[in-house]
Amino acid sequence: MSPSLRLDLFDILRGYAAVVPPRILHYPDDLPWDEMHHFLLDYILLNSHFKKYPPSSAYQHSFWKWAIAHLESTSSTEAGHSQDDEIDARIYEHYTSLLQFSKPQVIGTLAPPQSSFVTHFWSNELGTPANPIDISVLQTTTLRESGAFTENGTTGLRTWPASLALAQFLIMHSDIVCDRRVLELGSGAGLLGIVVTTLQQLQRGKGMITTEDPGLWMTDVHYEVLRLCRENIALPCNKSHSHPNTHQEYLDWASALDLGQSASLTSFLQKVDAQVVLGADVVYDPSIIPALLEVIRLALSAYSEQQQQQQKVAYMALTVRNEATFSLFLTAAEHAFVIRHHLVTSDGNFMFAAPPEGTGSLKDTIGRIRILEMRKRE
Ligand SMILES: C[S@@+](CC[C@H](N)C(=O)[O-])C[C@H]1O[C@@H](n2cnc3c(N)ncnc32)[C@H](O)[C@@H]1O
Repeated sequence: MSPSLRLDLFDILRGYAAVVPPRILHYPDDLPWDEMHHFLLDYILLNSHFKKYPPSSAYQHSFWKWAIAHLESTSSTEAGHSQDDEIDARIYEHYTSLLQFSKPQVIGTLAPPQSSFVTHFWSNELGTPANPIDISVLQTTTLRESGAFTENGTTGLRTWPASLALAQFLIMHSDIVCDRRVLELGSGAGLLGIVVTTLQQLQRGKGMITTEDPGLWMTDVHYEVLRLCRENIALPCNKSHSHPNTHQEYLDWASALDLGQSASLTSFLQKVDAQVVLGADVVYDPSIIPALLEVIRLALSAYSEQQQQQQKVAYMALTVRNEATFSLFLTAAEHAFVIRHHLVTSDGNFMFAAPPEGTGSLKDTIGRIRILEMRKRE
């Protein structure tokens, strides 16, 4: 498998890896049939990473249905196409093995969406990707996550687009996290944390870590979410796997306003003494805003002489689904913090593939995300 891949084929590869619905993928009709067939066989079906970390069977079923339909229709229309160019039997066999996933498992009920491995390809090299692209130099981040928006009473078992947006921002400005102690609030399945630890490991590989203990503390209120996050951080295919200083801990924002619990919260924040605080898609419930802001305020307090309060900073990526909730957060935040707004991307390009949230496009989803830099007022 050559590492050099046409950009339109790379789009299909990363779309498949990120379980993007095939109806959104673009099939390159201008590509000769045998090149497309070779790509689907070698880069998708026989890809050793996908064998180990496969998308859900239901997703694979919809992908291969789409791919086979295109291969069959182009094989009958392409000039010069020979009888020998038949679809490889392994593709049909794989598709047939997935047929049971095309229907609800119990008649009359909707089976819950399966959990799936999801892999994101990304590059820490700035600039427009070359065409063809060298996929061997790309980073990958893999997670097992839920196929449902909410499961077991939590939204934290899957990755939300705000995490991808903040990950892209931090990849573009990696000095924010590379050499730092980072605390993440509401970590969910762990995408952002895995990207942060990858950036720290890449920096370490270049011998450019100057502090003794860059690290990452991922926190969440839901135990199953923390368990999944731990599993994802430890996947051998992720660079986070070999990071010496990652932690997953229980932290409930509500404890910041609870007299009985605020002391243990403060002692945890003191122990972490984070220089950078992150949070993605953590503002969707107006009632939790005061507690969340208080946690951020406490986390940005100076706990040691080395870490001056002015240097401590939080980055929050918020998806605006409800303008009233967002302005409630912003107005309350402006009392305690100096806020700077950042663009998700300065050149309009989004480096991740992902399914859109709702009925619009991924571009619409990303357009609703706001990145706020927050520093404590003096
Ligand atoms: C929409 S999910 C976002 C997850 C992840 N940051 C992402 O963007 O993919 C919100 C996360 O906040 C967590 N959360 C909600 N309320 C919380 C609280 N009171 N304290 C700590 N975490 C909370 C949830 O468990 C969930 O993991």
